[in-house]
Amino acid sequence: MKTLIKNGTIVTASDTFQADILIDGEQIALLGRDLSDGDATVIDATGKLLLPGGIDVHTHLDMPFGGTFSSDDFFTGHQAAAFGGTTSHIDFVIQNKGHSLRQAVDEWHAKAQGKAAIDYGFHVAITDLTEDVLAEIPSLVQAGIPSLKLFMAYKGVLQVDDTTLFRTMQVAAQHGMLVMVHAENGDAIAELIKQHLAQGHTAPKYHAITRPAIAEAEATGRAIAMAGMTGATLYVVHMSCEESIEQLVLGRAKGFNVMGESCVQYMFLFEQDLDKPGREGAKLVCSPPLRQPKDAPVIWQALRDGTLQVVSTDHCPFWFDGSQPGRKPGKELGADSFDKIPNGVPGIEDRMGVMWHHGVNGGRMSANRFVEITSTNPAKIFGLYPRKGTIAIGADADILVWNPDKEYTISAANLHGAIDYSLYEGMVIRGGADQVLLRGHLLVDGGAWTGQRGAGQFLHRNAHAAIL
Ligand code: URP
Ligand code: ZN
Ligand code: ZN
Repeated sequence: MKTLIKNGTIVTASDTFQADILIDGEQIALLGRDLSDGDATVIDATGKLLLPGGIDVHTHLDMPFGGTFSSDDFFTGHQAAAFGGTTSHIDFVIQNKGHSLRQAVDEWHAKAQGKAAIDYGFHVAITDLTEDVLAEIPSLVQAGIPSLKLFMAYKGVLQVDDTTLFRTMQVAAQHGMLVMVHAENGDAIAELIKQHLAQGHTAPKYHAITRPAIAEAEATGRAIAMAGMTGATLYVVHMSCEESIEQLVLGRAKGFNVMGESCVQYMFLFEQDLDKPGREGAKLVCSPPLRQPKDAPVIWQALRDGTLQVVSTDHCPFWFDGSQPGRKPGKELGADSFDKIPNGVPGIEDRMGVMWHHGVNGGRMSANRFVEITSTNPAKIFGLYPRKGTIAIGADADILVWNPDKEYTISAANLHGAIDYSLYEGMVIRGGADQVLLRGHLLVDGGAWTGQRGAGQFLHRNAHAAIL
């Protein structure tokens, strides 16, 4: 199977140039001017940009959480991703307490089996660090999973203590593994939740009030200090505010191997939106919570200047109305109290379009930087580069034929995942993928699904990945 993409402009993290792309099988075989091949199917990309497929390194598909499961599974989530221009993602395996890491990984492989339509990798979230589990950590490298996650919040559920954090970082540092943290002070938050509930504060806005920015900054600083003590490479997920980004700046200035991501929602939605009439605010409940409008320009600047290396989604959708037949329970679980609302928001389909429109069209970053933070850096940091994350000879042919003039309005009615609302309802976007290729196979062609359930492959990733 050969495909020739002609007359497009290739955009990588470093360069923008005109060239044709010949795909032979699943990889890019040739880049050059005026290429021809009688056996190849031709895609005419005149006037289009050719971008490497998006890589979303922070997703939760089919995840048990808050008394239910996230609504997207490994098929619906993958369809949504592909329509939005994301061709690979890395999902979080969650260790059940008392289970081995192997059991947890097997459970997640079973979730993806026969469903996956884009390529996917796993991080492992440790929740119960016994001596056996500690000894098991290095085996994850052989299993192609060189990244670990530790939750510093969600007390009594996912939260780990500082001993777990410290010992895990020591082992990770020895084996070239990356440690990711959800950085919020879960103990302080648990107390604040109790105190507000005692005062009868149950509305969605109290989700944000009980999780202040300083609780995120404190945990971020603590994790960075431990990375400094252990020599571990640290990646702080979903950084939402100026206060925690300041901690990252300090850690990087000290020369610690620390990196961070933010998520699209923190640049567009704010704490005040949680106070919408009725239970509307429940749609926006995620952790860390939405912050203040003053935080958005700080995040944009950090993404632009390299303080933050990646923009991801933390895609963890829950139905707004999960009581309808065929749906998993959703946000209605928290109808009576904010602390019962499943935490998480959808976003996997929107990331590339929203970031292109507001980032590149909005004059906040170049098209090259867009590629870097949505694809190249994720591939480099998480051990996938140069197989993924760029357009180069020998790389997987994960290519977006990107139409910079395509205009559309985001609406829940047009989304492809298992979700009944959008964070970005009514947002007008210019720029989107006309065609989406994964390893040379067309997943989306002019708005139509051409992908295949079960064709997505597990990404066996490398340890000792880049520190940016
Ligand atoms: O609210 C969120 N972010 N839900 C998903 C789990 C997590 O903390 O990333
Ligand atoms: Zn988190
Ligand atoms: Zn998450």
